Amino acid sequence: MAEIIDGKAVAAAVKERIRKDAIRFQKTSKITPGLAVVLVGNDPASKIYVRNKKKACEEVGFKSFEYVLPAETPEIVLLELIDTLNRDPNIHGILVQLPLPKHIDEDEIIAAINPKKDVDCFHPVNVGKLVTGSADFAPCTPAGVMELIKSTGTEVAGKRCVVVGRSNIVGKPMAMLLLQANGTVTICHSKTENLGDVCREADILVAAVGKPKLITGDMIKPGAVVIDVGMNRDANGKLCGDVDFKAASKVAGFITPVPGGVGPMTIAMLMENTYSAAKLSVVK
Ligand code: GUN
Repeated sequence: MAEIIDGKAVAAAVKERIRKDAIRFQKTSKITPGLAVVLVGNDPASKIYVRNKKKACEEVGFKSFEYVLPAETPEIVLLELIDTLNRDPNIHGILVQLPLPKHIDEDEIIAAINPKKDVDCFHPVNVGKLVTGSADFAPCTPAGVMELIKSTGTEVAGKRCVVVGRSNIVGKPMAMLLLQANGTVTICHSKTENLGDVCREADILVAAVGKPKLITGDMIKPGAVVIDVGMNRDANGKLCGDVDFKAASKVAGFITPVPGGVGPMTIAMLMENTYSAAKLSVVK
């Protein structure tokens, strides 16, 4: 039976470390890290994320600034808000909750954020820096996955790593972080032939496709570290990941549950990035 990776506990430890470090930083710099979260429209899932981000800021002693705009907000108004936030010295991190309403060009909005405040690491400059290994931030979810892998005591260097999913938010940056840690990385996607054969080679398997229970028990190498980024509803409306947890946990060495695995880590790493951004603001 696999050992279950407790994402809540790892996230709590990360946040506690940040809280302590930020107190010391505050004493010397007089700066309290500040995060601005912008929500356009009233998607219920996004509202929950925004509430959780505010709560995490409180836990680590950061300031949080919330901007909730109506769904019909014109793009120019959002661009003006970002410009104001870019200039505000009390705000070190800016996060615009995605997805945005259809009439707003997401790429344009992301490109308008000052890269030094881009705590999502979505700005093209930061994506480029991530690829060359000179990034100030790593995207929150993949960075959280790296922490979870570390918590198992597994060394990534030299291991076969398979990432299922190639999104800009998770799959691609995940592959980059594993590569930087000297993993041997394969990215699979919806067109991959013989997905099971590729997955079965993985010492570290990260599933981030958004397909309920796509990864079955027979696709897992005995003893593998299995990280499930998926957040889906099954046929009964129950929350489930991309991995068939019950079957996979009989084969894997370590496995994350859904919920309680990757989810809590994303917000913890957002706090980490906000803290990094605050530190960057004093290094000229
Ligand atoms: N929507 C879902 N995940 C994310 C995320 O990591 N960042 C932002 N900005 N929006 C999201």
